Amino acid sequence: MKLKVLLTGLAAALISFSASAAIEPYVIKFSHVVATDTPKGAAAEFFKKRAELLTKGRVKVEVYPNSTLYKDKEEMEALQLGAVQMLAPSLAKFGPLGVKDFEVFDLPYIFDNYDELHKVTQGPIGRSLLDKLEPKGIKGLAYWDNGFKVFSSNKPINTVDDFRGQKMRIQSSKVLDAQMRALGVLPQVMAFSEVYQALQTGVVDGTENPPSNLYTQKMHEVQKYVRVSNHGYLGYAVIVNKKFWDDLPADLRGQLEHAMGEATEFANRIARQKNEDDLEAVRKSGKSVVFVPSDAERNAMKKALVKVHEKMDDRVGLDLVKAIYKETGFDPNKM
Ligand code: LMR
Repeated sequence: MKLKVLLTGLAAALISFSASAAIEPYVIKFSHVVATDTPKGAAAEFFKKRAELLTKGRVKVEVYPNSTLYKDKEEMEALQLGAVQMLAPSLAKFGPLGVKDFEVFDLPYIFDNYDELHKVTQGPIGRSLLDKLEPKGIKGLAYWDNGFKVFSSNKPINTVDDFRGQKMRIQSSKVLDAQMRALGVLPQVMAFSEVYQALQTGVVDGTENPPSNLYTQKMHEVQKYVRVSNHGYLGYAVIVNKKFWDDLPADLRGQLEHAMGEATEFANRIARQKNEDDLEAVRKSGKSVVFVPSDAERNAMKKALVKVHEKMDDRVGLDLVKAIYKETGFDPNKM
């Protein structure tokens, strides 16, 4: 009798152990540095919903927004170490990883609009850039849009000359460093999470970002002037730890790819409107003066900045720059 009880108990324990092992979900920690109410923040939440639904709960996605888990540089290291599984860093942040090519997206005025950009991000050039991440233990899944950048500062930025001598925060891209220097600006690399305070305390005079980041971080409250320059693009590569990804059961990977496809479509659908709405909100707040340059003023800035392309050929690769020109029809000699 005793043996029977023991065996029954053992069998029950085994069943419950294997059942709990079977239902233990795979966890994707998705860390990012922006607010939830931004194109990237909203798309991360969208991905979570769809991924959990399509995998019927076998995958759990935990989204950590606003640098709550890691700041810019740390999150890249955390991904490689497997402390988080998914990120969507801006394309300007891949240099320190040793993949400088992504800084091509930072070249001022290289894309005039989202259509031109999508020819690159949704075509073979975009794919081949993502493939360059694999030797770093990273798999690139998709590109998500944010938008075109505005300049902001506590000093006037109406003319190109106004920029001279100002201090501005940049992301870790050497192309952005060259862009600022072409304007006579002293660039300062800084984590996104530190920008608001640096602007508030005067550590830097200004910065650049699409309106969605400016507004959701309340940077406009500590910036007197905003110039709607649309001088460059800011977007993201969604990346995963390659080992984690490759080790997933194939059916789950397929479902996650599907969810990522939907999230990408969602991100790229909302990005433009979100930036338009947030620029309008900045205007309405009355906290900073929003200046929209005339065609002549825009051309003056373009003239000052397009020379950065040639300067940075070596950094990002001349062949890549030419391939993008061919795809978009950009002509650096045409103003
Ligand atoms: C920045 O650091 O300015 C942006 O890249 C933040 C982001 O992820 O949009």
